[in-house]
Amino acid sequence: MPAISCSAPGKIILCGEHAVVYGKPAIAIPVFNVATNCRIIAQPTASSNETLIAAPGIGLRSRLSSLRENHPIRKAIEFVLDSMKLDHLPSCEIHINSSIPSAAGLGSSASTSIALVRALSMYLGHPFDDAEVSRIAFEIEKIHHGTPSGIDTTVITYGKPLFFIKNYPYELLHLRNSITLVIADTGIKSSTAKVVAEVRSNWEKSHREFENYFDQIQDISRNVKRCLESGNNLTLGELLNRNHCILIEMGISCSKLDILVKCALENGAQGAKLSGGGQGGNIIALVSSEKAETVAEAIRHAGAVNTIITRVPSEDEKTK
Ligand code: PMV
Repeated sequence: MPAISCSAPGKIILCGEHAVVYGKPAIAIPVFNVATNCRIIAQPTASSNETLIAAPGIGLRSRLSSLRENHPIRKAIEFVLDSMKLDHLPSCEIHINSSIPSAAGLGSSASTSIALVRALSMYLGHPFDDAEVSRIAFEIEKIHHGTPSGIDTTVITYGKPLFFIKNYPYELLHLRNSITLVIADTGIKSSTAKVVAEVRSNWEKSHREFENYFDQIQDISRNVKRCLESGNNLTLGELLNRNHCILIEMGISCSKLDILVKCALENGAQGAKLSGGGQGGNIIALVSSEKAETVAEAIRHAGAVNTIITRVPSEDEKTK
């Protein structure tokens, strides 16, 4: 049997992070500059408990049977087998490689789950459709993050910009004009689960204040959607700035994120904000395509450990 190989992209959240956990809308965009690849090689002569999992990026090289019971990779395999009503995985080697930094808001855990679930379903001869991939990846995401909204697994599964409200069908976004984003990594690892739990505790203590933040973010997400659909990139930049200010008030930013945001704006970005769980991870800056490299260089000079320039095409470009 030939090896099976599946890839899944990374993602950024353009606006609405955290509020999305509370039923407010958010917008997410796949990032194809980075990806996770899962390659499965059949080992027909080995016994089933000899399946090897190798994920050098997270320092993992282990027999499947030696992984702890609730390890996300072990659970992913169980979910796939359950969905197919199978009781064991025919022996194989599973190799997972990713260029997505972990704990940085770029969707590394969701991307890993999706590449793995897709590859496993193909290996087992019954490729899942996107809805099943997304459903299973969401179950795995709960192991990583406790109470995820589902935005990461949805945008990575479908690989398209989308407007997302928890527990509702997602809406695909059709951009009037292309947008260019600089994504810049603070190098500070941050646990989304921890920040989400902190926000929950603050929401319980200061309910009205946090409901008000979420309402403001909801308005921003709805207006960002309008801007993307009408091609108003200037107002889009202002909305991203406002979203960042609210995230600062909510205690989700940190000094390095703020330094990188400020640097992006001083160097000509139309708007900038932290993206994802916060308290570390990445910022995103909306830039004109001509300024992208200058802004990226300035942000690296200000301390970003890595920058990615990503372009989201307009609807017209996609149909050409
Ligand atoms: O995975 P991250 O760090 O991009 O965070 C996802 C966005 C949150 O709104 C913070 C959490 C969620 O589940 O939506």
